[in-house]
Amino acid sequence: MIIITGATGRLGSSIVLQLLERVPADQVGVSVRDPGRAADLAGRGVRVRRGDFTDPGSLAEAFEGTAQVLIVSANETGGAAVAQHTAAIDAARAAGAKRVLYTSHQAAGADSLFAPMPDHAATEQYLAGTGTPFTSLRNGFYASTVPHLLGPALETGELVVPADGPVSWTTHGDLAEAAAIILADEGRFDDATPPLTAPDALDFDDIAGVLTELTGRTIRRVVAGDDEWIAGLIGYGVPEGQATMLLGMFHASRRGEFATTGPTLEDLLGRATTPVRSVLEGAAAPR
Ligand SMILES: NC(=O)c1ccc[n+]([C@@H]2O[C@H](COP(=O)([O-])OP(=O)(O)OC[C@H]3O[C@@H](n4cnc5c(N)ncnc54)[C@H](OP(=O)(O)O)[C@@H]3O)[C@@H](O)[C@H]2O)c1
Repeated sequence: MIIITGATGRLGSSIVLQLLERVPADQVGVSVRDPGRAADLAGRGVRVRRGDFTDPGSLAEAFEGTAQVLIVSANETGGAAVAQHTAAIDAARAAGAKRVLYTSHQAAGADSLFAPMPDHAATEQYLAGTGTPFTSLRNGFYASTVPHLLGPALETGELVVPADGPVSWTTHGDLAEAAAIILADEGRFDDATPPLTAPDALDFDDIAGVLTELTGRTIRRVVAGDDEWIAGLIGYGVPEGQATMLLGMFHASRRGEFATTGPTLEDLLGRATTPVRSVLEGAAAPR
């Protein structure tokens, strides 16, 4: 049996649907915080059990009889995130998993300027020390982040964000399909995968260019000062901690942390990855 956590989340739910196209439903299980939200999967024959990273007893039950567990990283940062991930890894091993998979990030690194990246690095390090075969999926930066960073650009014609660097933006759909392919092919990619990213990297100058093409109106990229940008976000009601974390993303991209590209994702999918342009089409559509 293959167990997937986070199956009521955006990535995990898509991974399960992709996996069901590759393996019979009675070999697929999900570990979710609220089984009621996975009723559709239960209806398709998927084993649905409650599992919460903060409740190890629930994980023992949710992971029972598993050959592989895919741990979708929690949406937390810092020590809490690492503690949740290591609890899930321990539970997977205790349940007898022969392979543990984890959704990491292309820029996982202890010295990253973006807060979640040291958490991924710490989780990978823990995983590597267990001695159990593992695959750390070094996912690209979610392209779905971009529309959230546009602010009022489509109304004002000015895309105002801090100084940045190129990012190999990658869609949830492509990453989910790749994860399912890797899950269905036990033994593929021992250790960390190469970066699972788009083959190109776009900075916000490029994003402004794409928006200009899509809307037929000039969208000019304007560089905001870091402090000015943070103050603006806080003014819009974004909590200060979250605003600071987002700024860290720009600091990291300036340093080129998300610029890595590679052919692995397209090779796995056997097709071109989904371009950022198609993610922006919805955002740029006339309302
Ligand atoms: N590659 C990137 O650029 C990028 C960007 C942002 C985030 N991420 C990471 O990728 C993960 C998946 O992304 P996503 O878009 O699918 O996020 P999402 O929709 O927020 O899904 C996160 C999943 O984690 C589950 N979860 C949270 N805390 C948990 C706990 N204590 N025990 C068990 N499960 C728990 C959530 O359960 P519920 O469904 O019950 O809420 C949810 O299903 C994120 O959580 C984050 O770690 C990556």
